[in-house]
Amino acid sequence: MTKIHATGSAFSYGRSYLIRLVFNIPTGEADDNGTDAGAQAECISEKQLSTIVDFINEYGIDEPKFLEFLGVAIKKRNCVIDLSSKFGAQEKDVFPLLYAACSAGLNVRGVAFHVGSQCKTPDSYLPALRAVRRIFDRASSESFTFDTLDIGGGLPISYRSPLPGVSEFCDVLSQGLEKLFPENLRIIAEPGRSISGDAMTLVVRVIGRSLRKNIPWYYIDDGVYGAFSGRLFDKCDYRLIPERSGPLTPCVVAGPSCDATDIVSTDQMLPRLEIGDLLLVPGMGAYTSVSATSFNGFPPPQILVTSDQWDSEQ
Ligand SMILES: Cc1ncc(COP(=O)(O)O)c(C=O)c1O
Repeated sequence: MTKIHATGSAFSYGRSYLIRLVFNIPTGEADDNGTDAGAQAECISEKQLSTIVDFINEYGIDEPKFLEFLGVAIKKRNCVIDLSSKFGAQEKDVFPLLYAACSAGLNVRGVAFHVGSQCKTPDSYLPALRAVRRIFDRASSESFTFDTLDIGGGLPISYRSPLPGVSEFCDVLSQGLEKLFPENLRIIAEPGRSISGDAMTLVVRVIGRSLRKNIPWYYIDDGVYGAFSGRLFDKCDYRLIPERSGPLTPCVVAGPSCDATDIVSTDQMLPRLEIGDLLLVPGMGAYTSVSATSFNGFPPPQILVTSDQWDSEQ
């Protein structure tokens, strides 16, 4: 964390409940312009704002280190997890919130959005940038000074089907930012999955087999209550790679717990597996063991770090 901080990056606690309370409000359906429309306006009360100010004072967060953003809701476009369904102000609520923040003594330095996690198409960022441009324009005409834009996360990794890589997303983003935000602006990004997702591969072992309705079922030693929790929480569809080769057949791969929901895959073709076989599951470095449980007595998987570089830096 110290090293990351030294590069000029920062850690966001913008999703912590206090800060979220100020800048994000429940929203309704988004319109075609990129931001939400149609839901009830729900402004933050002065009491809530003063709670935030007390929080800032209590923790001694001084202005240069503390960037306050107004989170805006962005219409879901080709992403798997819609992060604007729960948080983010609608465009029509932005200015009442800004004025409320201002009268509570908060210095809003810019706007933050998140296009949604596991965003599949770089172009999905463009309507969001256009919506934010409108907000910046009105802000400057109403004498608010914004110096920062937080473009959130959303960059995907490829699970079972190939998706555009980080550089393709960055190309579209840089062009969009250059065209729409020629002013001298600090741009912050908060990529999550695209940084850590491919850093981990899960190794699971086949611990049981059965034939049900003529389909082979393989029971493995981790499931949706463990590292495959991303299947439930994050709608992730992980690729299973067998160590063994052979004719491929349809099969079901299930986790070890007693729960019938504990199914890892129903539509992947695998060779006939034997008990004790290993399967590799790439892309397990984000939204996996962090939400794993020990349900039914199966502990989350152990994490092993294999990089020499990591070892030498410990
Ligand atoms: C505020 C915020 N920023 C960034 C991220 C990271 O998103 P992603 O993993 O899609 O890049 C999240 C994920 O939930 C988030 O809530």
